[in-house]
Amino acid sequence: MPVVDVHTHMYPPAYMKLMRSRDKIPYVRSFPDDPAAGDRLVILPAEDTASTTRGRPIGREYFDVNEKIAFMSKHGIDVSVISLANPWLDWLPSDTAAETARLVNDDVESMCAQHEGRLYAFGTLPLSAPAEQIVQEVSRLATLDHHRGVVMGTSGLGSGLDDPALDPMYAAIDRTGQLIFLHPHYGLPTSVYGERASDYGHVLPLALGFPLETTIAVTRMLLSGVWDRFPRLQVLLAHSGGTLPFLAGRIESCIAHDAHLKKEGKLGNRRDVWDVLKNNIYLDAVIYGEAGLKAAVDTSGAERLMFGTDHPFFPPLDEGEDEWLSVKLNSQAVRSTFGNNTKIAEAIMGGNAKQILRL
Ligand code: URA
Ligand code: ZN
Repeated sequence: MPVVDVHTHMYPPAYMKLMRSRDKIPYVRSFPDDPAAGDRLVILPAEDTASTTRGRPIGREYFDVNEKIAFMSKHGIDVSVISLANPWLDWLPSDTAAETARLVNDDVESMCAQHEGRLYAFGTLPLSAPAEQIVQEVSRLATLDHHRGVVMGTSGLGSGLDDPALDPMYAAIDRTGQLIFLHPHYGLPTSVYGERASDYGHVLPLALGFPLETTIAVTRMLLSGVWDRFPRLQVLLAHSGGTLPFLAGRIESCIAHDAHLKKEGKLGNRRDVWDVLKNNIYLDAVIYGEAGLKAAVDTSGAERLMFGTDHPFFPPLDEGEDEWLSVKLNSQAVRSTFGNNTKIAEAIMGGNAKQILRL
């Protein structure tokens, strides 16, 4: 059974060029007062503390496809489904978004074609463009040989994924049999991290802001009835669903006890979170531990869980560490939770992705 990585990013050359041309977040640049730090990737809204203003280092592993292939070979990964990393095209002006999306998606498609059988992709949508241009790109992506869906953040058209104006996009994704890979970027308001946030580097926004952002976005989709209107729509959630599998019972209970929803007649004919988790949600296995994997399998089923690495984020901090700790933690967690070489472990490591994504 192949090992497949469904959560692995790149900034293709067309995107890097844009990032290098900017001086507002998101951007890539070096700092003359610290030449040893090299190029830095500054993308997160939370990168406003003393320890985070200069973002994180960025090297060839972010944009050179040969580095991706070398990383895969080193870690025994047969196939990767690459996606543009955050913040995608969310920040582009409306009039250039559609053309940029085509450029970036074509860049990625040609990388996949150069490495036939090893690379597939989730494409990027021009979410700041008019609705018909978004739908056009969804339809175009469905015709590209190596694309299997779209990656997106939680902002939608600017007001979240519970926005009814997204219905044409959801309909097009559903109609073309693609899936949404939903990935966080915006985190939580930086005020929640407190006065000493700068003592803690990127830990709070990445470990907690990201998963809570995903959890809130999906819960809003559920509450707004996205899956009642599009009962077949499939969404792959980053980081094993944030905290959704753990909180599903509480979410359901809060819905069932909400007087406002009852008064509005919204409690009658609705699909509950358990039903959606089992039939519409795929989860990646990027959770680095047994407890998270068990919650994921309990709520969505082992056949809906797929291995990922989040490469090239979370690189080793020390020179000469060949095997990435972030990869090892995830693959070991799968094996220690489900057994070495068991059918279920093999399915999560690649079999599920092969079937679900038609690889
Ligand atoms: N940090 C990011 O900004 N994105 C990821 O995907 C992972 C870590
Ligand atoms: Zn990621």
